[in-house]
Amino acid sequence: MSSVVVVGSQWGDEGKGKIVDLLTQYSDYIVRFQGGNNAGHTLVVDGKQFIFHIIPSGILYEDKMCMIGNGVIIDPGVLLEEIEHLKDKQLEVTADRLMISENAHLIMPYHARLDQVKEAALSDVKKIGTTGRGIGPCYMDKVGRIGIKVGDLLDEQLFKEKLNAALEEKNFLLTKKFNADPIAFEDVYSVAMKHAEQLEKYIGNVSVVLDTARKDGKNILFEGAQGTQLDIDHGTYPFVTSSNTIAGNACNGAGFGPAHIDAVVGIMKAYTTRVGAGPFPTELFDATGEELQQKGHEFGATTGRRRRCGWLDGVVANDAVRLNGLTGLALTKLDVLSGQKTIKMANAYDLDGKPCHAMPSNIKQAASVKPVYEEMPGWNSEIDGIRDFDDLPAEAKDYIKRIEDFTGIKAQIVSVGPDRRETLLLENPFEK
Ligand code: GDP
Ligand code: IMO
Ligand code: MG
Repeated sequence: MSSVVVVGSQWGDEGKGKIVDLLTQYSDYIVRFQGGNNAGHTLVVDGKQFIFHIIPSGILYEDKMCMIGNGVIIDPGVLLEEIEHLKDKQLEVTADRLMISENAHLIMPYHARLDQVKEAALSDVKKIGTTGRGIGPCYMDKVGRIGIKVGDLLDEQLFKEKLNAALEEKNFLLTKKFNADPIAFEDVYSVAMKHAEQLEKYIGNVSVVLDTARKDGKNILFEGAQGTQLDIDHGTYPFVTSSNTIAGNACNGAGFGPAHIDAVVGIMKAYTTRVGAGPFPTELFDATGEELQQKGHEFGATTGRRRRCGWLDGVVANDAVRLNGLTGLALTKLDVLSGQKTIKMANAYDLDGKPCHAMPSNIKQAASVKPVYEEMPGWNSEIDGIRDFDDLPAEAKDYIKRIEDFTGIKAQIVSVGPDRRETLLLENPFEK
């Protein structure tokens, strides 16, 4: 019996979906614990692509149970669409394959609207570049104790009262502050009640089910969304998302005790990408950045935006090791580096002439640090067909070794392509 947490080590889009899909074969339960449909997790199985925004990436395996924990925020319309979409692909999401926590909060139409008008009202330098899915406003309501929970959908009277109270405030904001149209109670209410009917069978107490599973010796896989540098407390604030993305939140966001976590796998792209605004010390603005973007098909899985690209950042990597307590690495997209004559990795920052080994908390400093690079020779041949670690070019093995030495963490998984089979599983985190 083991419980393994998978988290993003950088700014999201590291390939969490692919690795969660891979590790699902060893798991009984797959649990999302934070974030919402700002996430876009891509899996490719036998050339067929699936992108999940809210349903855990373990859903393709019929005999596994997927859970959406209390720390997740759920846009019910998006969730139901995702369920429908899977049906079109001959995959029936029955209640014995998916459970939603009654304590998860709902993303309501006014959250998305507010997210968008707030962003639009910010000056260019202040824009976060959010996904516009209502993430910030929904978590604000949760923490402000005026949010509506999934479980509230099942109590019509309570739901009505909460919606009425929320709309009074949100419509004031929308009309008076942002000069936008108000949202009508009836429109939101009638749609929500339809959603409630469709979702009722999935709603339950995720914490209780996971506790029983653990006691029964089941393997549990926690699927993080976003990445460590997007964490609300530890990331490049305010250019972050509105939840804790680090491994500790797997416990809060699912109702699971920390002593029961056995391993934490950090997913790390072999280079770095970021979508949205904010500091990115190793960002490349030259032809190499362009090559990584093209070869890595670096477009956002949720918004389709072009991802900014740069070299691997060892400072960010070591932040991830510390903040998540990583016990293993899954190094992804190594194939994208093939053909680079020289590969660079930042091993420190220069902050006003002084060395710096962690992302500065001060946002102006985070934006002004200069990466200190070390260089390694690249490799020329394509590696996506390689299935045995020993067959990798010596330079690729050296690059992996350098990352392991620098972070002090072993690469348990090396990914050389988007497809499930394009993976080298060197050490199974469920067995370590
Ligand atoms: P996530 O949000 O962390 O799940 O990552 P995304 O799905 O947003 O972005 C990762 C992208 O890289 C997806 O298009 C994946 O199919 C793709 N991908 C994952 N691993 C690899 C890999 O090892 N090599 C290549 N070339 N693509 C990969
Ligand atoms: P996955 O799980 C990459 C970024 C947005 C923006 C900031 C705040 O696929 O890795 P938000 O809508 O959350 O308020 O936006 O966070 N962001 C992500 N970037 N991958 C993600 O998820 C992201 N989720 C949010 O681009 O910069
Ligand atoms: Mg993504």
